[in-house]
Amino acid sequence: MTVNGRTLHFTDTGAGKGLIPVVLVHGFPFHSGVWDATVAALKDDYRVIAPDLRGFGQSGPATEVSSMSDFADDIHGLLDGLKLPKVTLFGHSMGGYVVLDFVKRYSKQVAGLGLISTRSGPDSAEAAQKRVATAGKVKAEGADFLVSDMSSKVLSPAHRKQPELVKVAAGFMTPAQPEGVAAALLGMARRPDSTPVLATYRGPALVLTGDADELIPAKESETMSEALKAKLVVFKGAGHLVSLEKAIEFHSVVRAWLPKVK
Ligand code: MLT
Repeated sequence: MTVNGRTLHFTDTGAGKGLIPVVLVHGFPFHSGVWDATVAALKDDYRVIAPDLRGFGQSGPATEVSSMSDFADDIHGLLDGLKLPKVTLFGHSMGGYVVLDFVKRYSKQVAGLGLISTRSGPDSAEAAQKRVATAGKVKAEGADFLVSDMSSKVLSPAHRKQPELVKVAAGFMTPAQPEGVAAALLGMARRPDSTPVLATYRGPALVLTGDADELIPAKESETMSEALKAKLVVFKGAGHLVSLEKAIEFHSVVRAWLPKVK
């Protein structure tokens, strides 16, 4: 579908049985393939939509900077194109930053909210500076170094010792579009604090994380779940990619929670 002037690639699976559709927003530097197991776990009951954010997967290229609002506007355009007035929105990590931006501006369309391994706060000055430097390196050298680094960092220290898991994680990030990766890094570096959004959201929410996440500490999820008055599940022994690392438990928690969304 063409959304905001570029191709937005997405998968659209399952008939839905009249239930609220589920939209899965991937993190950085993933593409929608990261959700394959989640789509498979939900598709018998729910219509499940998983977009590639601009500059990722098979979606059209990004411009210089992809702000979290740019990504959220693309999702809004996609839902309009699909004529979906209400959805349950899940966001993993950077996808969570996007989903919180979406809630801020399009809350009426959000019937349920799932935040996975993410945070509501902005980057520290130091983290933002590091991202800008990494964006420069990606533009100069391509994204291979970043994929190789991230594909083990997204796993817990124990899981990253398993080469087959690292390979699966890398497959969720490739082929990468270097310009898209750099644009998202710059967008994340500039993102505002979305913490105030948590107190304004009134619907059902689910917050999931792993206690061995070295990219975004589980503490962030605890804080968000308190502000949202949401159910929190911390998967023991999981890193940043809980949907892969604890796939059975993760999908059973999501399936058990979804009926709360009406
Ligand atoms: C992600 O998985 O989306 C990233 O780790 C988010 C980030 O770098 O802040």
